[in-house]
Amino acid sequence: MRLIVDTDTAGDDVFSLMIALTRPGVSVEAITIAHGNVGFAQHAENALATLEACGRGGEVPVYLGAARPLSRTPLAASYVFGADGMSDSGFPRAAQRPAPGEAADQIVRRIMAEPGEITLLAQAPLTNLALAVMMEPRIAQACRHLWIMGGTDNGVGNVTPAAEYNLYVDPEAAKIVLGAGFDVSIVTWTETLRDGLLTLDQLGELAALETPRSRFFMAVNRASLAFAQKTQGLGGSLHPDALTCALALDEALILDAEMCAVDVETKGELTRGYLSVSHPILPDAELADPDLPGKPPNARVIKSADRAGFFAAMKAALV
Ligand code: RIB
Ligand code: CA
Repeated sequence: MRLIVDTDTAGDDVFSLMIALTRPGVSVEAITIAHGNVGFAQHAENALATLEACGRGGEVPVYLGAARPLSRTPLAASYVFGADGMSDSGFPRAAQRPAPGEAADQIVRRIMAEPGEITLLAQAPLTNLALAVMMEPRIAQACRHLWIMGGTDNGVGNVTPAAEYNLYVDPEAAKIVLGAGFDVSIVTWTETLRDGLLTLDQLGELAALETPRSRFFMAVNRASLAFAQKTQGLGGSLHPDALTCALALDEALILDAEMCAVDVETKGELTRGYLSVSHPILPDAELADPDLPGKPPNARVIKSADRAGFFAAMKAALV
């Protein structure tokens, strides 16, 4: 599999990259940086530090992209990941530097150069991808598959009851991407709550590996683990991006998925960034209101995944 990862690298974005960068047979061809979790420039530093931690320093270009949403004010999540997005671990600056070139432009060039070859893994607000679509709409057909971590699936969000972070931060970008015609799979926050938790026992097993990569993982995960325990009352840490990557790399880990009609709310007073996901118990929406447009399914929504398989994928990245 040939992959471009679009990321606001902090916390779990790091672990997703680690899975992709260490998996035999996966070629990470570029990492593109978006605004999001912490300071924009810090995301690039974190991606470069992750490449180094995986022994891949200097091998994968890191391109800077959009430093802010299409039209909204940037919104960080350093309350989850620490000011540096790495649990304030004080990692040294990596030797590799960002590559010349711009993220959306690179996404377009690389996908259009070899149609049907490149899979996109989007684990940040979707601004870079929206800019790429606006630059060259044909990337939607030329991209092999798009994986998105974002939104909710008729469940509660992590920013508001209606919305998950990546879609809340730049709903206009998400709307452009979801309307572009990609062959797309979505791992939602709802699915993350279901299958993306690494329990304290599992984290203990990862720590016991005592490898350089497991130590790096444990250090980076400290802040979000503390947040999940104290603020969310969970018995472990949540891994939306790493789960998405694990499923993208091995579809055998998908236990249940449905083709759904999905769209994003950009105007709602209480529902900014809400991902509307069609549901089988509502087949009669058009009967209820003839003005409701019937929408064909446009995305595969992951409903359930192999938790043990996800853990095995994370562990394999750390040995
Ligand atoms: O809501 C989860 C998403 O936002 C993930 O991509 C994670 O990195 C976070 O900040
Ligand atoms: Ca992310």
